[in-house]
Order: sequence, then C-alpha cells, then structure tokens
Amino acid sequence: MENVLRDWGGEFALTAYDEPSGAYMFIAIHSTRLGPGAGGTRMKTYATPADGLLDAMRLAEAMTLKMAVAGLPMGGGKSVIAVPGDLDPETRRRLLLRHAHNVHMLGGNYRTGPDMNTNSADMDTLNEVTPFAFGRSVDNGGSGSSAPDTAVGCFHGIVASVAHAYGDPDLTGKRVLVQGAGAVGAPLAEMLVKAGAHVIVSDVTLERVEALYDTLGVEVVAPATDIETECDVFAPCATGGVLTPETIPRLRCRVVAGAANNALSDPSDADLLREAGILYAPDFVINGGGAIHLIGYEALGWSQEQVERGLTGIGETLTEIYQAADAAGVSTETAAERLAYARLEAAPPKPGAPALRH
Ligand code: PHE
Repeated sequence: MENVLRDWGGEFALTAYDEPSGAYMFIAIHSTRLGPGAGGTRMKTYATPADGLLDAMRLAEAMTLKMAVAGLPMGGGKSVIAVPGDLDPETRRRLLLRHAHNVHMLGGNYRTGPDMNTNSADMDTLNEVTPFAFGRSVDNGGSGSSAPDTAVGCFHGIVASVAHAYGDPDLTGKRVLVQGAGAVGAPLAEMLVKAGAHVIVSDVTLERVEALYDTLGVEVVAPATDIETECDVFAPCATGGVLTPETIPRLRCRVVAGAANNALSDPSDADLLREAGILYAPDFVINGGGAIHLIGYEALGWSQEQVERGLTGIGETLTEIYQAADAAGVSTETAAERLAYARLEAAPPKPGAPALRH
C-alpha cells in the first residue's frame, strides 16, 4: 500500500468497503489541473483489494494524459468497484447506488462514465443519486454508450499507424488481430472488415467470437495464442497489461494499435516495442474516442459533426506523435507523454494541488 501510494503522483484516492457484498470501492483522482477528474467506473474481480486500488490509480493517471492529448477540459480520475465475483442484480444495483453516493460527495470534482463491465443503463442508475455521470442512455438525456465512438477513434488510429508503418493507409488485405470482442472490439472488427482488412478475433468468452464469426466471417484464434499470431496490426481491446517484457518478444506484428487502457505493463515496455521494430500507438491517444464522445456531447455541447472531427483528430495526433518520436529518437509513448505534459504544464496550477510528477 505504501509503495502504491508513493509511486503515484496523483491527488488522492478514496477507499471504501461494502460489508454486505464484500466489494472494495475506489475512486482515484489523479489530476484536476485541466478540469474535474473524469474517468469511467470499472467493475472487476481482482486478486487482492490492493490490485483494485492500484488499477484505479494507474487508470486515473492514464485519463489525465488522455484528456490532455485530446485537448479536453477535464482532468483524470477513475473508479474501480472490486467485486468478489458475479453479483445478483439487486446487489449490483445497490453497489452502483453506493458508488453514486461516493461520487456525489466529491461535488462534481470527479465525473464518471461507463468502463469495463458498466454501461449506459448503469449510468442511469448512478443518475438516480448524482448528476455527475456521463454516458446515460439517450432516452434518459445522456449521449449513450461511448464504446462505438471509442471504436471509431481506434479505427482512425489504426489507419494512421498503418500509414506510418507501411507508407500507405490502405487496410485492404492487412491482417488485423482484435483481442477482445466486447463493446469496443466488436464494432471495431466490423469497421475493419468493411475497410477490407483480414480480421482475426480472440475473446475469452466464446459466444462473442462466435457472433462475429457468424455475422462478419472473421478468423478466430484462441486467447492463449493470440499474442503470437502473425499479423500486421495487433489491436488489444480487452484488459490492460497485455504487453510485458515476457509477451513482447512473442509478438509477430508490425504495429500495436488498440483501445485497451494501460496496454503496457510499464511505460518502459514501449522501449522494448521500439527495439523490436514495432510501431506502438500509445493507448491514451488511440482510445480517446470515448472521452471525446462523452465530454464533447455532454460537457461541451458539441454537434455530431464536431465529435466526428474530434475522432478523426486521433489519427492526426498519432501521426504527429510518430513524427516527433522519430525526430527525437524516443519511443512513441515518451513522445505522447511529452505532448500531454506540455499541455498540462501550460495550464495554471490549482492552489494547493501537488506538482505534476512524471
Ligand atoms: N471509460 C472510457 C475511457 O476510458 C470512457 C470514459 C471517458 C468514461 C471519460 C468517463 C470519462 O476512455
């Protein structure tokens, strides 16, 4: 616990234990320099409660960078509800309401939204207690799920990455492996198929890949071996931490470009990718589409056209980052972090807030 807190440069984390369910609840606010800390609510089972807290803190930090790079007036935060296992609907609802109460106590300095294992219906539930939830269902006055636009942003990012790696943005015949056929991976696979790519999909849940196999005719690989499948683009769209010193040598791709948050086990993994000649699209840049959707529509009053412009901008930002990384001889992760921190440092510090650490 001490190590977790010492290694993190964020503002603070809230912790709670829900006695009836055995769930641990965390809200981490990494930075409010550019605006309220914003980031989704993740529901997941962890090996230990400390792993859940660590995940919330790291994901909150990624949100700070994501907002800065996307030019959105928000800081970085994240919540984790670390559940002991599958929940019955009543317990799940009660936990969400309790989470909403915690969010509400932060008075708008933390704004949440959907993330892994939470959706628009869950944001509607939070909204019974607090207005500080993005991504409510459209019927309930929200902008709906952010996942489809996360996929659109990721698609633009893949095109820009292929253009940089191969000198041609055309996806026709390119082998793209989408790891995780969930709310983001499934629509991404569809867009890639439409663009002429040869799409390969893996997921720990068999029904999800079966559905894509039936509707799109994608190739299917087992999750155990997906990482070593020969492809042009590996697109991690499931859980984080899939790129590690152990897995990177097994990759057989030219580009890594996917929507999963915290795809690297550590930022230094980006150097390993660079040394292996693999172009890496920094996750907090390529997966900014959800944030652009939620904050664009709900906080900035953007039109669909403006949101679409923001999503296209993800590809342009990546191209700039690739050029900056090449020019400076650094990893794309380092170049992207430099861009984010330049934007953060250009904003005036909040009185009393800790200095930015990077
Ligand atoms: N959870 C998504 C993400 O990580 C969407 C989201 C963005 C949720 C911003 C809340 C705020 O980008």
